[in-house]
Amino acid sequence: MQEIRLLKTGCSNYSRKEVEIISEVMKQGGLLVFPTETVYGIGADARSDVSCRRIYEAKGRESDNPLIVHVDSMETMSRFAHTEEVEMMPELEKLWPGPLTVIMRKKDGICNTATAGLNTVGMRIPDCNLIREAIKVSGVPLAAPSANISGRPSATRASHILKELGPLVDLVIDGEEATYGIESTVILPEGRKCTILRPGAYTREDLLKIFDQVEFGGSEGRPLSPGTKYSHYTPEKTLYRSDREAIIKYMEKNHGKVLPIVTKETADILGIECMVLGHSDKPMEISHNLYHCLRQLDKSPYDHGIIETFPHIGYFISIMNRIERASVKLEE
Ligand code: TXA
Ligand code: MG
Repeated sequence: MQEIRLLKTGCSNYSRKEVEIISEVMKQGGLLVFPTETVYGIGADARSDVSCRRIYEAKGRESDNPLIVHVDSMETMSRFAHTEEVEMMPELEKLWPGPLTVIMRKKDGICNTATAGLNTVGMRIPDCNLIREAIKVSGVPLAAPSANISGRPSATRASHILKELGPLVDLVIDGEEATYGIESTVILPEGRKCTILRPGAYTREDLLKIFDQVEFGGSEGRPLSPGTKYSHYTPEKTLYRSDREAIIKYMEKNHGKVLPIVTKETADILGIECMVLGHSDKPMEISHNLYHCLRQLDKSPYDHGIIETFPHIGYFISIMNRIERASVKLEE
């Protein structure tokens, strides 16, 4: 097996030398796996078709699914996209660094492979000082989707994808666990309105503080965000979903055969081996652990899993978006 180049560091606790190592890989058009506050990314120079093609190959990603471009500052963003066309930009700036991706018209510097031929680009300033610093020092805008084989759950720890992607990249940065554990919110702004193309770590309520109107968009058949039409976040084993009550009933009959992925409260009622998502009133705990739990199911000796569902409100809308795509509804 090919050797994996690993750099153990952190988003806040890092050395100048480490920034130099990372920026050198970026400047040479290399591929790197890196931490962000949402999920891990697999990135390369957004200006280079050759480098970006390697991202699609490593992930097995469909070529019509554009990548998000990560930059260190508003100044860099405006070099690569028409930020001046986004009316609410001064307010949106306050949400960065953070889990927000804004679709805007691209400038020529971004290569066609990164945007899958679109004339728009999704821009984001991630909340990881180390990565922003490396982008700044190298001068390289970083095109990066989530670091996972396409269709599989995103990685929230470097260890999740070390075996699959490690040998295919030039550097794996093993930083801390991703705080949110789910991806950024992707929005398309139009004047004082915006459409949420992919729900994520920022909620509709967060965006309503800025926009007059915020809609969920991207209808079936004609998704505005190409990625949302592909299967996503799925573990290899079958995963059912249901509410607490139905899970308790189901486990009475399927004890020992099925791994419950549930809240702490449900796990306490069940009193059997479970993967615990977190407390039911702490959605951040649940999103933080979600993909790790899905990955643990595949590693477990159980035939299949069953995951607890939540009401579609606030931040749980984004969590449920991932759960619904990763699982099938339990019909009884
Ligand atoms: O939190 C995140 O967003 C992570 C980290 C690494 O930043 N990245 C991530 O990238 O989740 P990815 O490629 O897994 O998801 C990007 C989504 C896809 O659904 C893609 O179709 C959409 O953003 N997207 C990217 N550029 C777009 C564009 N120009 N127009 C519409 N949708 C776009
Ligand atoms: Mg992804």
